[in-house]
Amino acid sequence: MLLNRKIIAMLGLSSVVTLVALTSMAPDKPGYKNVKVLPKNLTHQQLGKVMDEWAHSLGVNCGFCHVRDEAAKKMDFASDAKPEKIAARQMYKMMNKINSKFFKAEKDSLGMMARTGINCNTCHRGNPHPELKVPEGGRRGPGGPGGPGGEKKD
Ligand code: HEC
Ligand code: HEC
Repeated sequence: MLLNRKIIAMLGLSSVVTLVALTSMAPDKPGYKNVKVLPKNLTHQQLGKVMDEWAHSLGVNCGFCHVRDEAAKKMDFASDAKPEKIAARQMYKMMNKINSKFFKAEKDSLGMMARTGINCNTCHRGNPHPELKVPEGGRRGPGGPGGPGGEKKD
């Protein structure tokens, strides 16, 4: 019994040691300063992929959401100075909520739509400001009579 306890304690200890060793050996230790909505354990590569995806979906550069530290002459990615960055956090939360709430369906009747859901590009399509315009089939253009922002004639 005592021996068992000792062995278990040793095993436990050695796995902790291994884990610590592995973590400190990891070459890609992120250590982000201000990551609040994304998983905190993303590697640099994974975070970079997300950031690229957001930038491409909105058709913008990193500087659309991030400020530059002029004194240090480099980007200050941890700063929350730009409202666009705050908006992006909200958008990310909204997207996850929509996906978990409304895209649970495994498949539709045709066996399609497996685990689809939405991402930034579903709405943004390379545009930071998705327009609230509804295609009206030719006659009435955006902002025209009857269209959003236009006066209603008939
Ligand atoms: C649409 C807005 C947006 C764009 C564009 C964007 N980011 Fe971000 N970025 C964010 C948000 C929001 C966070 C914080 C995420 C969180 O809180 O979980 C973040 C976090 C980061 C961080 C982590 C900083 C830290 O230490 O906390 C880095 C690094 C980063 N971005 C780099 C980039 C790079 C490089 C680009 C360009 C390829 C880019 N970002 C484009 C919104 C954006
Ligand atoms: C369901 C549709 C939808 C999805 C999904 C979506 N957005 Fe948006 N987003 C919008 C709309 C609509 C606006 C408001 C546009 C406006 O006011 O001009 C907006 C605005 C923004 C803005 C503010 C732009 C500004 O100049 O203030 C940012 C930043 C943004 N979205 C980032 C994202 C990111 C990043 C994602 C994915 C994580 C995302 N959005 C997903 C619809 C969406």
